[in-house]
Amino acid sequence: MSLSIIVAVAANGVIGKDNQLIWHLSDDLKWFKKCTMGKPIIMGRKTFESLPRLLPGRTHFVLSRRKDYQVPDGVRLFHDVETLMENLPEGENFVIGGEHIYSLLLSKADKVYMTRVGKAYDGDAFFPPFDEKEWIKEKEFPGEGDIPHTFVIYRRK
Ligand SMILES: NC(=O)c1ccc[n+]([C@@H]2O[C@H](COP(=O)([O-])OP(=O)(O)OC[C@H]3O[C@@H](n4cnc5c(N)ncnc54)[C@H](OP(=O)(O)O)[C@@H]3O)[C@@H](O)[C@H]2O)c1
Repeated sequence: MSLSIIVAVAANGVIGKDNQLIWHLSDDLKWFKKCTMGKPIIMGRKTFESLPRLLPGRTHFVLSRRKDYQVPDGVRLFHDVETLMENLPEGENFVIGGEHIYSLLLSKADKVYMTRVGKAYDGDAFFPPFDEKEWIKEKEFPGEGDIPHTFVIYRRK
């Protein structure tokens, strides 16, 4: 089993505001879909609630401490990281956010798919400290659109 993180980060580390994404980058949405399709996706309860709908073709793993939290059929709910980790299938599993869940799982991830957005934004959710020295840049290519951004894939050294 392996854990990969996928995230879009502004130049100042911001990843969201008011439980929403801030920017609209259509090629980033396509990239997210391409990378995660067919793979399990792991998220915190708040990110789960921010989704417009269940994302097709991907099993949703949701973390919440609330024992009475209700999720639709097919969504896997966990109340602690240890039990979640024990229940992840073989192969690549994607951590899709948000701030709390990235902080919990970054140290366990061996790959990070990072969309680096080339502008600073006002926000209230941040990616945790990320030391590039611990990672090898496996791939890097520019995105297309009005807002400058770069897709980077890091693998842990
Ligand atoms: N830019 C990006 O790529 C990206 C991606 C995803 C999300 N985001 C942004 O990130 C923000 C949301 O981040 P967030 O940190 O507020 O929320 P979050 O990480 O999505 O969810 C936090 C929730 O996860 C649960 N949780 C946290 N630690 C836990 C643990 N140890 N065990 C069990 N459950 C645990 C708790 O749920 P309960 O309160 O139910 O107990 C907690 O309230 C939004 O602005 C969103 O748009 C950005």
